[in-house]
Amino acid sequence: MDKFKIIGKSRIAGEVVISGSKNAALPLLAAMLLPSDETVLHNVPTLKDTDTLIKLIAGMGVAIKKEGNTVIADARHVANYYAPYELVRTMRASILVLGALLGRFGEAEVSLPGGCSIGSRPVDQHLKAFEAMGATILVENGYVKAKAPAGGRLMGCDFAFDMVTVGGTENVIMAASLARGTTRLENCACEPEVVDLANMLVAMGAKIDGIGTPTMIIEGVESLHGCEYSVIADRIETGSYLAGALMSEGDVLTTNTSAELLHPVLKKFEAMGATITTGDDWIRAVMKGRPKAVDIRTQVHPGFPTDMQAQLMAVCCLADGTSTIIENIFENRFMHVPELNRMGANIRIDGHTAIVTGVESFMPAPVMATDLRASMSLVMAAACADGESIIDRIYHIDRGYDNVESKLKSLGVNIERIKG
Ligand code: EPZ
Repeated sequence: MDKFKIIGKSRIAGEVVISGSKNAALPLLAAMLLPSDETVLHNVPTLKDTDTLIKLIAGMGVAIKKEGNTVIADARHVANYYAPYELVRTMRASILVLGALLGRFGEAEVSLPGGCSIGSRPVDQHLKAFEAMGATILVENGYVKAKAPAGGRLMGCDFAFDMVTVGGTENVIMAASLARGTTRLENCACEPEVVDLANMLVAMGAKIDGIGTPTMIIEGVESLHGCEYSVIADRIETGSYLAGALMSEGDVLTTNTSAELLHPVLKKFEAMGATITTGDDWIRAVMKGRPKAVDIRTQVHPGFPTDMQAQLMAVCCLADGTSTIIENIFENRFMHVPELNRMGANIRIDGHTAIVTGVESFMPAPVMATDLRASMSLVMAAACADGESIIDRIYHIDRGYDNVESKLKSLGVNIERIKG
């Protein structure tokens, strides 16, 4: 397993170009199964997760290729509607092909994604919605076998999610776009990545009202056509690099991104004392002195995103005062806490609440990445520690941060990948 060797203490400063959003690119790639002709998708990040999904779609007989940051797919001919466990288990968002296959072909056999380190990650809401649309769902041997009613098309319906689910909302709007009749979906996720998917579906000819709101109305159409589209910027990558400035009296300029995507994060950065300036496609964070302590509770959009919780906790570790962080979305998203404490942080967990008492600085140490976003919090902590740290299991970070070493080096981090 590869490791990172990071030698601090660095002032995190410089310019970094933000890549396309991983969490938008994945549903958009799945949606390329819907039209019966060619779709071109720009600004696709180069990540293990996107590579895995492209491989999965190619395994269905779809002509798909990635040229630089552009993916071209022609789903004219789809040979099978099968997503094998071998691929799904490495990238749980593969479940997003279920809605596209069921919507277009009326059938699909997709491995259940299983959990991951941050939680059990069930998909009961996805399946409940498809059953409400007339699908027969059989779960056996770890696979979801779904079939539309006779005639092969799902039926529009009224459905309300029991809880807000990003993937559930994405899966269902893809299926509903080709259902017979109208689907009224309530308690939808409003994340920018859901909006990006809905906008691409509309570009393909889908009829969707209420995009970006908790209630969406999707009028099913007979078929969808290809389009040329571009993935939105990655708001979590943006926030992750800006957080480094707050930890090191730094100055980070992120370009090819938009402040519109991460208002709740930028507001917290300002509350911690950062000077945030923004333009049409850039955000700059400048920090003088220690960050101020803040209280955070992760919420669905437009609340503070759970995917920025670990990175903001790393900032709170160096704050002048005590911060509280409440994780409301996932049941086990504090695994970075013991690793940060190994680096000299002072964090106590009480259920879903982390109490972070600020310290002057991190200490270098060997630590282990436990999940994607925790990895970045450890990288930034190591960059701010005076000495050499080793971060193990960095395959997690390769899943979600495009070109991570060179971007960190451009921000002044002394980082080296040690091939495992
Ligand atoms: C998406 O995951 C993101 N992944 C996650 O980002 C993100 O943390 C999450 O949304 C919340 O914003 C992608 O977009 C690929 P959910 P998703 O369905 O869709 C429960 C990252 O670091 N739930 O909104 O799987 C679930 O257990 C990743 O980039 C059910 O109970 O998240 C969780 O507690 C991590 N039943 C909560 O809802 C369901 O059927 C939110 O899950 C579905 C979800």
